[in-house]
Amino acid sequence: MRFRFTLVLVGVVFLVLLVQDVPLAAHLQSVERDRLVTKLERDAFILAGRVEEALEGTNGAPDPGLLGVIERYEDAEQVNVVVTDATGAAVFGPGFDIGEDFTNRPEIVEALAGRPNTGERDSSTLGTELFFVAVPVLSGDSIVGAVRITTVASSIDDQVRSRIIRLFIVLVIAIAIAAVSAAVLSWSVTRPLQRLTASTSALAGGDLSVRADERVGPPEVRSLSRSFNDMSSRLEQLVSRQRAFAGTASHQLRTPLTALRLRLESLATQIDGGPGEADVAAAIDETDRLGRMIEGLLLLSRVDDAAVAPVTVDLAAVVAERAEYWEPLASEREVRIAVEMPASLLVRAVPGGAEQIVDNLVDNALDVAPAGSVLTIRLDLADDAVALHVIDQGPGLTPEECERAFERFWRGSTPSPGGSGLGLSIVRQLAEAAGGAAHLQLSDSGGVDAVVAFRQP
Ligand SMILES: Nc1ncnc2c1ncn2[C@@H]1O[C@H](COP(=O)(O)OP(=O)(O)O)[C@@H](O)[C@H]1O
Ligand SMILES: [Mg+2]
Repeated sequence: MRFRFTLVLVGVVFLVLLVQDVPLAAHLQSVERDRLVTKLERDAFILAGRVEEALEGTNGAPDPGLLGVIERYEDAEQVNVVVTDATGAAVFGPGFDIGEDFTNRPEIVEALAGRPNTGERDSSTLGTELFFVAVPVLSGDSIVGAVRITTVASSIDDQVRSRIIRLFIVLVIAIAIAAVSAAVLSWSVTRPLQRLTASTSALAGGDLSVRADERVGPPEVRSLSRSFNDMSSRLEQLVSRQRAFAGTASHQLRTPLTALRLRLESLATQIDGGPGEADVAAAIDETDRLGRMIEGLLLLSRVDDAAVAPVTVDLAAVVAERAEYWEPLASEREVRIAVEMPASLLVRAVPGGAEQIVDNLVDNALDVAPAGSVLTIRLDLADDAVALHVIDQGPGLTPEECERAFERFWRGSTPSPGGSGLGLSIVRQLAEAAGGAAHLQLSDSGGVDAVVAFRQP
């Protein structure tokens, strides 16, 4: 995004400069040419003025002082100067003989006729295109000679080109400056925005203590950071208040519940075989169920607590240990627990989460497993996830019930005596808190296949 911004800005600067510089270059080219031509014309007239006196009187060569001036001028300007008398014979001209006839040069003929002229022509002497300026040397009304300045035509083009090149160097420098300032500008805007994005993701991931830096970036970003911080502080406050409430409430509920159970137990001993014994026993069961519900709700509220960060655990070790724990109950119900898994398999889970997941699933399976059946616990490694399967040979569930079973407090048509309807919602919540997932499906044997996917470290 930062790179794109820089590119767009550089592109815009380039376009603007191009739109401005291309016509400017064309204009400059003609202006520069005119300037050079005018300068040569002016020089020719000045020279004509200087040689006038030398030509009119003696009709001979100009004095050596003047010749020195002309030679220096030739060197400085990279031009050639020829001076003729009124007959067109050379009076001064390097590379020519003094007295050489110049009347075969059209520009000299024109100048001797009193017409200053400029132009380009092929030079047979030099073999290149020649640029010339020829002017008459006037003394009063009479023409006493001519001055011609020539230069290789391409040298004028070279000078114009070097001007244009300088213009384009400026263009390149301007683009470089634009690129650097665009990069700095976008960096100063996108950096704080990227940090703010990271803070937002952290908050969404459950870290309510995260705060954005309110001192960096342009004012708009700073005010956004302030709003973000206000929001996350408020959120943190609300959540911690709610958690404190859940903790206190469950604690407050536990005490009267324990008292209630004690009274019911004492009532049971008082009745002991008398009428109402069954009702009291049922009341004690309900009290126990209520207790488990409160524990379950408390557990759910703690799993909601995003501070519970996943850790790496050996799921195979957990399964082995829990299978051993459930073994006595299973054999009492004549159910065989079969475990299929590698010796070790690392997964991500919230602390204690893997144990609770296995316990809840095995608990459900044992509730429905008929005597003589097999309860299979299997660990599969698929792609980058590990799937825990707990498969029973019980009555199974319809596909709709398989999904409903995860609703809080939902219990099927044959609810287990010790259930609270919270087991599977806790399983799903624990799985998702570590980036995993949970669902029920029908197994080939007709029972339920409970599947929990765990992420690998
Ligand atoms: N393996 C299973 N076979 C058949 N029904 C099941 C199985 N596991 C769960 N269920 C149904 O889903 C309901 C919800 O399960 P759960 O959330 O663990 O609550 P609880 O076990 O406390 O009733 C259970 O009451 C039961 O009807
Ligand atoms: Mg259960």
